[in-house]
Amino acid sequence: MKDRINRVALVGTGFVGSSYAFALLNQGVTEELVLIDLNREKSEGDAMDLNHGLPFAPSPTRIWFGDYSDCKDADLVVLCAGANQKPGETRLDLVEKNTRIFKSIVEEIMANGFDGIFLVATNPVDILTYAVWKFSGLPKERVIGSGTILDTARFRFLLGDYFNVDTRNVHAYIVGEHGDTELPVWSHADIAGKTISDWVKKEEHYKQEDLDELFLNVRDAAYHIIQRKGATYYGIAMGLVRLTKAILQNENSVLTVSAYLDGEYGHKDIYIGVPAVVNRSGIREVIELDLNNSEKEKFDHSVSVLKKTMEPVLK
Ligand code: 2OP
Repeated sequence: MKDRINRVALVGTGFVGSSYAFALLNQGVTEELVLIDLNREKSEGDAMDLNHGLPFAPSPTRIWFGDYSDCKDADLVVLCAGANQKPGETRLDLVEKNTRIFKSIVEEIMANGFDGIFLVATNPVDILTYAVWKFSGLPKERVIGSGTILDTARFRFLLGDYFNVDTRNVHAYIVGEHGDTELPVWSHADIAGKTISDWVKKEEHYKQEDLDELFLNVRDAAYHIIQRKGATYYGIAMGLVRLTKAILQNENSVLTVSAYLDGEYGHKDIYIGVPAVVNRSGIREVIELDLNNSEKEKFDHSVSVLKKTMEPVLK
């Protein structure tokens, strides 16, 4: 029986992975963090650099650069490895390349005796989460994708900004593919218990057209950022830390993750972004929102696009 020291193994120390490591250290979430990357020099340099920040961190973390054998005792393996989008590319364009990379990574991790929880961040995240579930043979509850956690954060941020209310008081979800077919669940969006449509009715300068545009800015946020700086990493890194805390601290938090559907929302055999209760055992349960007809149609479309894209590479 292993002791209760939490170990996170991070595979892939590119922009997303190293931002995650930095955010994790700053929030004092885990006792151990091992960095694994094909580029050993890079992960060694990151480990040195992060260790030098330890005197300023809220609690101690043992950080080192390692290899797949370190995954054996890991509670959580976070996968950030693989290619990312170039300007003009969609997330789905990465599917073949990253599925191939993931097959070898996951097989090596499993061959080293890993028996914890996988958290997947690489795109296309819904398909790669499904791939990790298949390649690892772990129960579906213990394979989680970052899904629409970042899109939901972008949505809450923009809504908070529009209505000039703290984003933490905004309760609204983006569901579906983490990508071009995602959708906002307006029918269940509220600020402090008052529906968004009530907020719009309250004052004349709030307009539905603004909200429609706001959603487009959520959906296309990654394109806008990639065009400006080549990649996105701070937002997703903080979302991954939020998920890590929910898991390691057994929070039972509701977060929009890529979860396996087994009949929920009328679909089976797919990983897709939905609200779910996350705790120390992974995904405790998927929360099934009562979508209206137009939301349901968009969700179904998102499922069919994902299924069509993954079929040639995973079936
Ligand atoms: C993002 O949404 C590119 O998936 C990444 O920022």
